[in-house]
Amino acid sequence: MTAPKKLAAGNWKMNGSQEALSEVDQLSSAYPAPGCGIVICPPATLIPALSERARGTAIKVGAQDCHAEVSGAHTGDISAKMLAEAGADFVILGHSERRGDHGETDDQVRAKLMAAVDAGLTVIICVGETLEQRDGGSTLDVVRGQLSGSIPDGLTAANLVVAYEPVWAIGTGKVPTTEQIAEVHDLIRSEMTRRFADGAAMTLLYGGSVKAANAEEIFAVANVDGALVGGASLRADDFTGIIRALE
Ligand code: G3P
Repeated sequence: MTAPKKLAAGNWKMNGSQEALSEVDQLSSAYPAPGCGIVICPPATLIPALSERARGTAIKVGAQDCHAEVSGAHTGDISAKMLAEAGADFVILGHSERRGDHGETDDQVRAKLMAAVDAGLTVIICVGETLEQRDGGSTLDVVRGQLSGSIPDGLTAANLVVAYEPVWAIGTGKVPTTEQIAEVHDLIRSEMTRRFADGAAMTLLYGGSVKAANAEEIFAVANVDGALVGGASLRADDFTGIIRALE
């Protein structure tokens, strides 16, 4: 799966039921040939139904996490290979809610990332600082550390997408200034370019309280190639406004 350069990715988190799949029908009929990639990452239980529903449309399906091993005694976990079999092309890894709620370390995220790439998935890796870290002036160091700790060598623009999600902007309605977004995205671009032959072509997303009303301004920032959207991806009406701003 090659990551489209411009990408609108929806992270449904632990939201959505079978009825929510009709939102995807609405999206696919609104965008038969969108000018950007569209990925929906529903809860794992909805991946098979959603990928069935999205077959033949422009919408791709992603998961929100995976285990680092292919199989074994890991009650409740799902491997990357299983997600791929269920119809996922993408997986979000290292989201701050996983890092926070489950204590995931950079080393664990890195192991999951390698497993996901082995299974043929494109990884959307999340990095971002807490408010305390931003106020303490360590944002760039934190992001640099997460990039080097979570992302192994040998990746390409086809299997890696990087999402900058400041923790304090997630679900809060607070959005960094365009200067703050630009500063971090510039850092991510230069790190990717330094480490990977096609780092300049890698898709970099911003995530954190993106809505139709602020999407255009955010997408105008250099090195922002799209968004990883939580709340505003749950309803097709809201998400289409963001897609329109990106196309
Ligand atoms: O992964 C997307 C996310 O964390 C942003 O959530 O609800 O602020 O768009 P939200």
